[in-house]
Amino acid sequence: MQTNLTDPFGRTVEYLRLSVTDRCDLRCFYCLPDDYRDFSEPEEWLTFAEIERIIGAFAALGVRRVRITGGEPLVRKNLPALVKRLAAIPDIEDLSLSTNAVALARHAAALQQAGISRINVSLDSLHAERFREITHGKLDRVLNGLMAAKRVGFAPIKINMVVMQGVNDDEIENMVEFCIEHEFTLRLIETMPIGDTGRNATSHYLDLQRIKDRLARRYTLIPGLMPGGGPARYLQIAGTRLNIGFITPVSQHFCETCNRVRLAVDGTLYLCLGQEHKFEFRPLLRAGISDADLQDAVRHAITLKPERHEFSDKPGQVVRFMSMTGG
Ligand SMILES: C[S@@+](CC[C@H](N)C(=O)[O-])C[C@H]1O[C@@H](n2cnc3c(N)ncnc32)[C@H](O)[C@@H]1O
Ligand code: SF4
Repeated sequence: MQTNLTDPFGRTVEYLRLSVTDRCDLRCFYCLPDDYRDFSEPEEWLTFAEIERIIGAFAALGVRRVRITGGEPLVRKNLPALVKRLAAIPDIEDLSLSTNAVALARHAAALQQAGISRINVSLDSLHAERFREITHGKLDRVLNGLMAAKRVGFAPIKINMVVMQGVNDDEIENMVEFCIEHEFTLRLIETMPIGDTGRNATSHYLDLQRIKDRLARRYTLIPGLMPGGGPARYLQIAGTRLNIGFITPVSQHFCETCNRVRLAVDGTLYLCLGQEHKFEFRPLLRAGISDADLQDAVRHAITLKPERHEFSDKPGQVVRFMSMTGG
């Protein structure tokens, strides 16, 4: 019996992103339309027991790392209770969380006690007014959340910054200094053509190679190393402990090493961020599928993984919103 998940292109899938809600308390302009209301209904959401079951099936087949995401995961009620259940699954070695940190001050300690080991926080600007324009949210809440995460001892804390030309590309050096001061890791992300938010986000796309060259003129950059095995390529600023990750899905895609799949809150497994290939698990779970058949279904789903996204070849092809897939 095959006990790992290998797709038709020879890639082993060992990482799952779990979206626990498609809702969000922010409206980042590259992610969700301003007035978006077309969210899934509670009866469509996988329950904690269903999530536990399906993650158990993935774990039995070799998935070792799970990142909880959304939408904004902290808007799902009782999230620490779910974390506790997932942390108890044998073979899940790494349970992490991506959040906008709006509600993190309240939940940081409980999440850590429940078993979250690492945390990523989205932060695109350190100017309150600009932050509000990008996200419609309040910067001070995010900063409070970040500091609470630091206090309870999450380390490393990674800051995800979507770099947008003419929006926040003048802030990268500020963000570098902020991350050095607080011992955060910085990850710069290219804007992806995902979901048409009606706010023309992709016109702000910026090739991160240009940012790398700009930083190299100001700082001495040396190869960096970060655990996690993700798509970021890291450089360290010499003389500091700061690692800067460059995530370049558009300018230099990393599909040949893609080791992940994404489970949406409604039980749909998306095999690629930029393609429509998917498999529905909710009907199977609600029809009382056996553990053995569930594992067979997982194996089958992985055979549907496409070779690559086509952000550059078909820039006009936008798929569902990032908040729906689980970024
Ligand atoms: C969809 S969010 C979900 C988790 C959480 N709400 C957050 O913001 O961290 C995950 C990540 O996707 C990124 N993201 C969303 N839309 C994007 C886009 N069009 N291009 C690049 N990154 C995007 C966000 O910046 C965030 O870092
Ligand atoms: S990027 Fe995260 S915080 Fe921003 S709207 Fe999307 S899900 Fe919400």
